[in-house]
Amino acid sequence: MNQLFRKKSLSLMLAQSEKKELARAMSLIDLIFLGVGCVIGTGIFVVTGVVAAEASGPAIMLSFAIAGLVCALAAFCYAEFSSAVPVSGSVYTYTYATLGELCAFLIGWDLMLEYVLAISAVATGWSAYFQSLLKGFQILIPTLVSSAPGVGKGGVIDLPAVLIILAITALVSKGVKESIKFNNMMVFVKLAVILLFIVVGIWYVKPDNWVPFVPFGFNGIITGAATVFFAYIGFDVIATASEEVKDPKKTMPIGIIGSLFICTLVYMIVSGVLTGMISYRELNVGAPVALALQSVGQNTVAGIISIGAVFGITTVILALIYAQVRLAYAMSRDGLLPQKFAQVNAKTKTPFANTWITGFVAAAIAGFIDLTTLAHLVNMGTLAAFTLISIAIIVLRKKFPDLKASFRVPFVPVLPIVSALFCLYLTISLPLITWISFVIWIGVGTVIYFVYSRQHSHLNPSALGSDERRK
Ligand code: ALA
Repeated sequence: MNQLFRKKSLSLMLAQSEKKELARAMSLIDLIFLGVGCVIGTGIFVVTGVVAAEASGPAIMLSFAIAGLVCALAAFCYAEFSSAVPVSGSVYTYTYATLGELCAFLIGWDLMLEYVLAISAVATGWSAYFQSLLKGFQILIPTLVSSAPGVGKGGVIDLPAVLIILAITALVSKGVKESIKFNNMMVFVKLAVILLFIVVGIWYVKPDNWVPFVPFGFNGIITGAATVFFAYIGFDVIATASEEVKDPKKTMPIGIIGSLFICTLVYMIVSGVLTGMISYRELNVGAPVALALQSVGQNTVAGIISIGAVFGITTVILALIYAQVRLAYAMSRDGLLPQKFAQVNAKTKTPFANTWITGFVAAAIAGFIDLTTLAHLVNMGTLAAFTLISIAIIVLRKKFPDLKASFRVPFVPVLPIVSALFCLYLTISLPLITWISFVIWIGVGTVIYFVYSRQHSHLNPSALGSDERRK
């Protein structure tokens, strides 16, 4: 029984991180760009319209504020953990040190669900935006290869979604520096077009459009918050990069909280301008931002913004692939996943095979499976991780009172408890089918843990490779 709760020692983790197999190449700006690159995407460019039209109305600004608050509470916990334990693997690693191996494996398994499905879902959104952009130039992709089966369009495979994932996978597998440069460039483009939207759109805001401000009542605002939560998914990803940043103890907390703050601000302003330009009732479309600009005759700006959205969503895919690869790397290094995932290519200094396995699996899902209903699963996985991290911070403080962290969560244990309760509250508003699917996924993970991971864990004295580990 004790085996299930065996914990990885914090000093061993820090020692492993000191070996520096992965290059420490990222600065604070790189990290904030990675965070913003991973967060701002399909959520603001696509989901905002549906939520404004069907759940929140103009009060979508408040939905963003509430979802941002829930993330901020979890972000505090992430920040303390990542500055105290700056090693790869994010919440998985933190759980391993505090709540034990079984919990850690299951949360890693849960995050894999979140990341892989999110890569696929975001790529599917990218494909839709890309196709609407091509349509503007009268270029049509044949129906057979333009959507997954079962979405009512008669498609067999969503080829653009598959190709964009494989292209980004190739980039990530080439090495962290190249990816960061590409990411920084794209994030810059994305922020520039969002700024352009605000600067142009604000002149067309008619306060009448904000009346009624809360058409669907308080419940609408909360349902909206649970849905726009998707727009925040990814900020935790920067915590997975702590083995690759310079001076992680200082850089990590500032990077996490900074990028979350920027995103919340951007979301509230964009959704405010959007619902001020055009009635919320008309926003139930695939490209609401472009629609709002077209409705006031700004067609050229709408075109520029669409190009920016395609770039913007690209960076989200990049950051999510990056996160999934690092997570599988950390789990494999501990023996909980096969060794292949931890092999670092000598030339590129990246986990090459791991990157390509991630890319192929996500591409296959994006190509053939309609993920609209599964998007809720992504939210579920993330909220479960947030709940765990909030509990784990209380355990960390109790078990390791002397651990030095450059950032400390205020009001422990009250704030982490409130954080966990908020996350649970949002999961309750998710559909029953999401809960059932989630329970099945966790069930499969539990079986894998008992059949494979428990024996192969490097904390298991009889596991192959444990001698090597002790050297
Ligand atoms: N937060 C990411 C997006 O909105 C998943 O695309």
